[in-house]
This record gives sequence, structure tokens and C-alpha cells, in this order.
Amino acid sequence: MNKKNALFGALIATALGFSATAYAHGDMVPQSVDTAGLPSLGEEWLDSNPYRAPSELNAKAVEIGDSAYNQNCARCHGLEAMSGGIAPDLRLLQPNESDDEWYKERVINGAVRNGAVYMPKMAEHISQEALWAIRTYIESRAELQ
Ligand code: HEC
Repeated sequence: MNKKNALFGALIATALGFSATAYAHGDMVPQSVDTAGLPSLGEEWLDSNPYRAPSELNAKAVEIGDSAYNQNCARCHGLEAMSGGIAPDLRLLQPNESDDEWYKERVINGAVRNGAVYMPKMAEHISQEALWAIRTYIESRAELQ
């Protein structure tokens, strides 16, 4: 870890109130999410959000996504999807297929620079159904901006 990354990590840790050591040791494993009520999407990742309105599963997805987001994303991306400046404000993503691509890329691969994990690979711990539900929740927050 170079100096700049160490500083950035320490800043995140300070802002969020936990120790940099715990963060570096990867204590914060993303929590798996109960997606009862959303049918299985299979192993292959879809290209776009299957729960986007007018999907009849939209409301259910927002509900599941709300709690899943707050458990797994809020500590970096902000409570109720309003970024406090630590990580990008996800409400700025547009509800279209090209931003679905970018969303998918990030939740599958995370964000690693110079060996420092800025964002873990969420899809290793959280199902595709739950991650699209989170995307749907974020979209519902974008309308409230
Ligand atoms: C440990 C902190 C952390 C957690 C937890 C986290 N992220 Fe991130 N995320 C980041 C950072 C930092 C970036 C910016 C990375 C960069 O610029 O290289 C980012 C970028 C993103 C992006 C790209 C946004 C853009 O405008 O380019 C998406 C999408 C995203 N995160 C989704 C999520 C979702 C969904 C979750 C929860 C399942 C999540 N993240 C959890 C830190 C985190």
C-alpha cells in the first residue's frame, strides 16, 4: 500500500468510525441477503435490471433492496443512497442498460487500485437477485433527489 492509499484508507476508517486495522483485515464481509419473493434469475448475469418499473416485481425489489443496501453499501455510499462524499453517489446512475453495465461491472469486480480494496467484490457474497434489488432501490431514491 503506498502512502496515498494508506491515507485514503485511514480517512475512510476515521470517517466511518472503525479502525483501519479491522478494515485492512477484511472484517467487513458483505452479508448475504434473503430474496424470498423474487424468483431465481439463474447463474448467468442479465444485461439489465429485471425489476425496473413497470416490472410487477418492482415494489418487492425496492423493499428487499432497501435493507440490503443499508447493510452492505451504505457505510461507503451513504445512508439512503445519499453519498457523504466517501464513495460516488449511486443515485447519479441512470436507469438504462448502459449504466446497468457499469453497475454490474463494479459489483462483480469491485474496485481495487494498487492492491488496495476500495470496494469489495460484492457478487462473491451477495446474489444477483439481491444486487439487482439494490439497484432498483437506488433508482427509487434517485426519483426523490
Ligand atoms: C468499502 C466501501 C464500499 C462498499 C461497502 C461499497 N462500495 Fe461501491 N464503491 C466504493 C468506492 C470507493 C467506489 C469508487 C471506486 C473508484 O472510483 O475506483 C465505488 C464505486 C461503486 C460503483 C460505481 C459508481 C460510479 O459512479 O462510478 C457502483 C455501481 C458501486 N460502487 C456499487 C456498490 C454497491 C451496490 C454496493 C453494495 C452492495 C457497494 N458499492 C458497496 C466503495 C464501496
